[in-house]
Amino acid sequence: MKDDSERFRHSIALESLEDTAHLGALIARALKKGNTLALRGDLGAGKTALARSILQALGVTGPIASPTFTLVQAYETARLPIRHFDLYRIEDPSELEELGLDEALSEGAALIEWPDRAEMPEDAINLTLTITGAQSRQAEIDAPAAWAAIFAGKDF
Ligand SMILES: Nc1ncnc2c1ncn2[C@@H]1O[C@H](COP(=O)(O)OP(=O)(O)O)[C@@H](O)[C@H]1O
Ligand SMILES: [Mg+2]
Repeated sequence: MKDDSERFRHSIALESLEDTAHLGALIARALKKGNTLALRGDLGAGKTALARSILQALGVTGPIASPTFTLVQAYETARLPIRHFDLYRIEDPSELEELGLDEALSEGAALIEWPDRAEMPEDAINLTLTITGAQSRQAEIDAPAAWAAIFAGKDF
């Protein structure tokens, strides 16, 4: 773990799926080549919904399936290629390498559900979703300090 002063922590109340889409759009604009977004939270917390919002904000128009069974789905977008992983079903942490994390990060960005099934890069953007109601979620962000600027002046 890096020094705490190099991290940005922020908690966001998402009152609806629309707020989640708004957060996804904000993240989509900020994502850069080499970024890992580690998405944590219980089943149904909204990890896939947020990943879908990010991909839609990047211009993906077709269906965006959950990678629950395929483990990874790849998308070309106008700005950068994105690979969306779901590690729930991997049996060994080394499988992430076989699934192509290194390639994903050298070409674009990775969105990873159930990231604790493997080892995440130290500079990962960590986002944890908690269910607070039928349509509401709390999002906790723990990211490299540079992400503070991305949320500065935003209404959440
Ligand atoms: N504010 C919200 N943000 C995200 N998902 C929400 C929200 N409100 C309701 N939902 C619903 O919760 C479910 C989240 O499912 P999903 O994204 O597949 O969860 P996970 O990938 O974390 O298991 C979806 O049915 C989604 O429509
Ligand atoms: Mg999911």
